[in-house]
Amino acid sequence: MATQQKLKHLIESQQLTVPIIKEIFDSTDLIRDGNYGRKPNGKILATLFYEPSTRTRLSFESAMLRLGGSVISTENAKEFSSAIKGESLEDTTRIVAAYSDCIVLRHHEDGAARRAASVSKVPVINGGDGKGQHPTQALLDLYTIKTETGRTEGLKVVMAGDLKNGRTVRSLSYLLGKFNENEIIFVSPEHLRMEDDIKDYLKERKVRFSEEDDLQKTLPKADIIYMTRIQKERMNGEDYLKANGRYKIDSESLKLVRAESRIMHPLPHVEEINLPMDIENNDKRVAYFRQAENGLYVRMAVLKHLLR
Ligand code: NCD
Repeated sequence: MATQQKLKHLIESQQLTVPIIKEIFDSTDLIRDGNYGRKPNGKILATLFYEPSTRTRLSFESAMLRLGGSVISTENAKEFSSAIKGESLEDTTRIVAAYSDCIVLRHHEDGAARRAASVSKVPVINGGDGKGQHPTQALLDLYTIKTETGRTEGLKVVMAGDLKNGRTVRSLSYLLGKFNENEIIFVSPEHLRMEDDIKDYLKERKVRFSEEDDLQKTLPKADIIYMTRIQKERMNGEDYLKANGRYKIDSESLKLVRAESRIMHPLPHVEEINLPMDIENNDKRVAYFRQAENGLYVRMAVLKHLLR
């Protein structure tokens, strides 16, 4: 059923109420089946990316083109936009907002999307802000969980890797906390643990969670195993070496994963996933490529929501 709620910007997962999530997922289901207006919508999406991206930028651009809109883009805004001449993010945003109907921003500083939204007359979507959040990734993650397991409640979710610097696990924790009986097991080395703001939120909402440093132990219990990359670019060399290679899904550890469980990853993955091609192609438990594809459909639904 259509809801009266509508977002102006999408900056953080806390904004996503259960009715809005349901509306976006219903719309995603239709889009995935090919049911969406293919008429030109006459709108322009600007992708303003100060950090590298493959999936987020290209899926948003593809989403807008499939919806009949157009795209203007700067993929290396840190060097190729006026930022290099000293222009503030606020000024750049004001200008890009005058040239477009919606902005997807990826930026290296936490809170950047909120700053941009405060001066933008068009919707701003946070495509990842430093160690902050990545709400459309969380939506596509939860949508994938729903389509793979048939539910968004009563799940045991293991999140493993760099939980301190990874924005996707932060945004996904918020969303999982909105549904009943979910339990999160955070697996990380001591120095890359989930931050307190997320743990406080989960406590407040009475969501069960625990912290572990042994991935193997958690694998047989998990419905979802959400692996993450150690965010090398956000830490010093010593911290990276202490964490690198610590958690791995390979042919050996895969034996501990139940047939109905799913392995997810926001991608790109490096050593934390090391599975042979035939397993990646044929084993149902490997869900991360379907997850990335869902990103396109979910982002089409998000654009439809914000631009309607
Ligand atoms: C992630 C990101 O940028 O936060 N990638 C993505 O958007 N799918 C994860 C990462 O870079 O490790």
